[in-house]
Amino acid sequence: MATTPKWIMIGGDGPESYHQHSSHQGALLEAAKEKMNEAISAKLSLDLISDRFSVADFGCASGPNTFLAVQNIIDAVEDKYRKEAGQNPAENIEFQVLFNDSATNDFNTLFQELPAGRRYYTAGVPGSFFGRVLPKHSFHIGVINYAFHFTSKNPKGITDRDSPLWNRDMHCTGFNKEVKKAYLDQYSADTKNLLDARAEELVPGGLMLLFGSCLRDGVKMSETVTGMVMDFMGASLNDLAQQGVIDQDKVDAFSTPVYFAEEGELRKIIKENGKFTIEAFEDIIHPNGEFPLDPKILAISFKACCGALLTAHFGVDTMRKVFELVEVKAREEFSRIQNAKPGMQYLIVLRKN
Ligand SMILES: C[S@@+](CC[C@H](N)C(=O)[O-])C[C@H]1O[C@@H](n2cnc3c(N)ncnc32)[C@H](O)[C@@H]1O
Repeated sequence: MATTPKWIMIGGDGPESYHQHSSHQGALLEAAKEKMNEAISAKLSLDLISDRFSVADFGCASGPNTFLAVQNIIDAVEDKYRKEAGQNPAENIEFQVLFNDSATNDFNTLFQELPAGRRYYTAGVPGSFFGRVLPKHSFHIGVINYAFHFTSKNPKGITDRDSPLWNRDMHCTGFNKEVKKAYLDQYSADTKNLLDARAEELVPGGLMLLFGSCLRDGVKMSETVTGMVMDFMGASLNDLAQQGVIDQDKVDAFSTPVYFAEEGELRKIIKENGKFTIEAFEDIIHPNGEFPLDPKILAISFKACCGALLTAHFGVDTMRKVFELVEVKAREEFSRIQNAKPGMQYLIVLRKN
């Protein structure tokens, strides 16, 4: 059975890189900024803001969105301190930022691009966020932007032709009940581990800020733009197999370790975990919320996110051919894309119990 490679973004800052093509993920941080400020002001105890304050970003990639995420948090903490303690944060608080991602993430680009004039010390934390990556009580606020939808591996049986759970599609489209259950079970187990690990690493009363997208209750993944583009990726791989460019067995054994949960599923998983209280679950509706409905931009954005995963399975030439075909399919099916059901962009604020 195929193993699941780490799902990293395309590194560097070249024309195919995540660094160049992640403005969609950054737009949510901007749109949710005010709600995030309110949450930090209302839910973070002033007692936690003392001489040393640590922020940790899980799944930081190679920038630049992570810099925006951590700066927004630091600004909000300083603002609260200025207003409530009546003192100058620059004189009294030293900030530390811990950047976490998989060990194969492009940390070189991340650290070369650190903003000039930043008022924080930095450290890289390589390792999977599904387990512990930091000592107990290491940070005060954690953030995850667009990385709360991964699973640690493909669900059992999904990539096995002989299993009743074998999934012809390369993701959970939502149309097969058993397949959806297998993905949800895997996602629930992984997310429990992620929350358990963060609960250990956070100081008591600390906050986790989750930004990302999920499905509205009852909506199937393949009814959304993201799901449609993932379907185009799968169809493109099958086209290339039929043309003899790649092996069909390899395509059949390929699946993506990702699950976009429904809102209700997310709430249930967090509640059942029991380590955090949900302080806010905001539906962030904004003009930049959905991907720009342009076939070229869709192909480029998804290449930046999914290209490295495809390269690990099929090689870089095939990966590039896949995204050329994705653009063609997106043009052909443009009216369906325009009529896609909306996904949900969220800001979830969790407070450690
Ligand atoms: C879509 S990117 C989001 C990056 C960044 N937070 C942003 O807003 O632009 C998802 C990131 O999660 C990271 N990631 C995925 N699985 C991970 C894991 N198990 N542990 C740590 N990072 C992981 C990927 O390497 C990638 O950098």
